[in-house]
Amino acid sequence: MRPAGLTVLDHPLVQHKLTLLRQKETSVADFRRIAREISLLACYEVTRDLPLETVPIETPLEPMMGRMISGKKLCFVSILRAGNGILEGMLDAVPSARVGHIGLYRDPVTLQPVEYYLKVPEDIGERRVIVVDPMLATGHSAAAAVARLKQAGAQQISFVCLIAAPEGLDVLATAHPDIKVFAGAVDRSLDEHGYIRPGLGDAGDRLFGTK
Ligand code: URA
Repeated sequence: MRPAGLTVLDHPLVQHKLTLLRQKETSVADFRRIAREISLLACYEVTRDLPLETVPIETPLEPMMGRMISGKKLCFVSILRAGNGILEGMLDAVPSARVGHIGLYRDPVTLQPVEYYLKVPEDIGERRVIVVDPMLATGHSAAAAVARLKQAGAQQISFVCLIAAPEGLDVLATAHPDIKVFAGAVDRSLDEHGYIRPGLGDAGDRLFGTK
């Protein structure tokens, strides 16, 4: 089952930058910068339907009615640690957004995601929540993170990633058919180690230079 609300970010700038990101020669500094640039563009797409209101303002020359975002404010939630590589670009686009973090690890015996960190704004229920993680691989961490955020009160949740595997999209859509997913690309499949193929390798290691 694919999310009904799957949007592939097919803008040429996103696709070009994603190809640069995937290349194994791309340095850590460039990887970080390009991930941030793509995330800013992804933020543009995920916020496309934010409601606007008209407000009276004055330019140096005359009064006018301007348009500003109304309604629910935003909260970005980064799935640690690689989500932080996306967070930066999202905050470039919406500097006033609130930020939450969730940390999950995979239990080596049960293979289920276990939460080790959660900090989100108290008013998360009144905000539009955008969860970020560069790679939607098995989908188990994403589904667990969304479940935990719903438990914390989040009601309207979208998920942004750079690359999704078909398996991860299925898992997330089955667990949470209500959430919209925005992905730079949907790749072929997962390999036996849980890496997305062709993918870009380990996003965390490439962002932080840990390998
Ligand atoms: N996480 C990554 O960083 N890369 C993958 O390919 C899958 C999960």
